[in-house]
Amino acid sequence: MTDRKIAPGGALRGETALPGDKSISHRYALLAALAGGKSEIENYASAADCASTLSCLDALGVNLHLDGARVTIRGAGLHGFRPPATPLDAGNSGTTLRLLAGIFAGQPFESVITGDDSLRRRPMRRIIDPLTRMGATIASEEGGFPPLRIRGGRLEAIRYEMPIPSAQVKSCVLLAGLHAGGSTSVVEPVATRDHTELALAEFGAHIAATAGMATISGGSELSARSLQVPGDLSSAVFLMGAALLLPGSELRLTGVGLNPTRTAVLDFLVAMGAPICISGRRTLAGEPRGEIEVRYGPLSGGVVSGAMSARMIDELPMLAALGPFTERGITILDARELRVKETDRIAALVENLRRMGAKAESLSDGITVAGREAGPLRAAEIDPHGDHRIAMAMAVAALAAEGETTIHEAECAAVSFPAFFDTLDRLRA
Ligand code: S3P
Repeated sequence: MTDRKIAPGGALRGETALPGDKSISHRYALLAALAGGKSEIENYASAADCASTLSCLDALGVNLHLDGARVTIRGAGLHGFRPPATPLDAGNSGTTLRLLAGIFAGQPFESVITGDDSLRRRPMRRIIDPLTRMGATIASEEGGFPPLRIRGGRLEAIRYEMPIPSAQVKSCVLLAGLHAGGSTSVVEPVATRDHTELALAEFGAHIAATAGMATISGGSELSARSLQVPGDLSSAVFLMGAALLLPGSELRLTGVGLNPTRTAVLDFLVAMGAPICISGRRTLAGEPRGEIEVRYGPLSGGVVSGAMSARMIDELPMLAALGPFTERGITILDARELRVKETDRIAALVENLRRMGAKAESLSDGITVAGREAGPLRAAEIDPHGDHRIAMAMAVAALAAEGETTIHEAECAAVSFPAFFDTLDRLRA
């Protein structure tokens, strides 16, 4: 257990690239494993979650090699996985578990997949229901929790209307659909991140996607690709948050993913007055990327609700932690999903922001955080409850608080951004 002390002040200056996008890395690795031939993936995420995906693929007999941030994968084809001898461990990664479950549903063997204490408390009925409708047999712990025991086989195509906005559920059903007879469609209540659709098209699957619906034809063989993962915008926002709070900051983030299904957070920050400038836009394999420049600047505050909450679900902890430094505070609504992330993020944010003296209230589906009129934040002992995004969000708030804050079990940041604290130190030097 590593404590990190955060002294306030300093300015963030200079330029940095970000580790590869976590969501895209998972998808490229999984599709490369299902493809025929040798794929090369550059800037593969350093996130522990993406290492979990590789170790599961390794346990399935996939030939892969990791060299720094480059992964080489010799695909096994749609039906070439070796039945796993022991339960697969997805660690802390919901994406690993839910996407692999979709693939396992179409495999002619039984597999068991589980994860750490946090993952074993996360809801899986959301994937068990559609996969069962497609013909898989899935046993879970009481209440629909992992471990999941999946007996796959011949699947039938379905049209699935998702009751909740979730890119993981959408991706799980599309990956099962890849193995089904006929065309499987997923209809979303809110358009969530579309990395699976883009990656499937890139690897040669027959997929048609419009905002709100994706349809995949079963049985399309995938072919190997050489791909470069863009930097992770969801990690970049923590450095951006720090730059916005620290006077004198001027930061340039290079090669950051700018897929429009992920950039709602940038729109919201700009609407709050954040001095953010984007340049060098380019698209590789359907995934836009570019440079982000951000300077220190006062923030007005505001309300995130409706579809916007779903579209910046991973950035909401950072926004909540900026709340006490804004003119009017920040309110987040329609974000019940925060309660079933790596921890209950609404409870964890309210608890830790209050420890720092902020005025924060939890709502059933969100949080209100009062702005500057509620007074300055002061140093505190932070308990991130093992959640990477809580640890990083609170570290950013600590940079603009009075006194030295301690982030307990700070190593959990490695789930998405292992170099976060070191990068912060380097850019503040
Ligand atoms: C992800 C989707 C989101 C997000 C998670 C990554 C993905 O989860 O919170 O960090 O890669 O598909 P949900 O699909 O559960 O909303």
